[in-house]
Amino acid sequence: MAKRRLGILISGRGSNMASLVEASRAADCPYEVVLVASDKPAAAGLGWAAEQGIATFAQSPKGMPKAEYEAAIDAALRDAGVEAIALAGYMRLLSDDFVARWRGRIVNIHPSLLPKYKGLDTHARALAAGDATAGCSVHIVTEELDGGALLGQAQVPVLPGDTADSLAARVLEQEHRLYPQTVAAWLRGAETAAHSS
Ligand code: GRF
Repeated sequence: MAKRRLGILISGRGSNMASLVEASRAADCPYEVVLVASDKPAAAGLGWAAEQGIATFAQSPKGMPKAEYEAAIDAALRDAGVEAIALAGYMRLLSDDFVARWRGRIVNIHPSLLPKYKGLDTHARALAAGDATAGCSVHIVTEELDGGALLGQAQVPVLPGDTADSLAARVLEQEHRLYPQTVAAWLRGAETAAHSS
């Protein structure tokens, strides 16, 4: 069966993007990564993706109306034949229009056990609340920030002496395991649904 064509949006180091790319090399993985795009032309992950032979696209939104910027990203995704989008540390809010155009076909990884701690500084907030567990979530992207249907979660313990950085590192290890596995299951499910309808 043909692999689904995945596009990934990043803003920085791109370690979750790399975990998706690495998993995609397995013969039975249901997706291939056909484009890595960034709003930050200097994002470290873009260079890594290019070294892997993956097409990249970089467009800074500076000085551009949001609609024009998103139209450029949308065109790059469509030109690459992208069927589904994974956000991987993409730090820009997508407009309602963009989400509507890709309805049900965008996923995100967020470093908290949603619905707790939507938005930024998730690890510091988990520590401040005295939580005994923390973790990460993969969800469908909707117009509501970090609010769409959950596809998967992984938990880690909060340990004595943890700082936001040490907790982030423990959660990130789980992100790298959870994201490829959840995206694969999601796309396999979409395939099954398409064939049974
Ligand atoms: C990850 O913790 C991800 O959950 C969050 O931003 C971070 C991105 O890291 N959305 P990376 O760029 O994937 O290394």
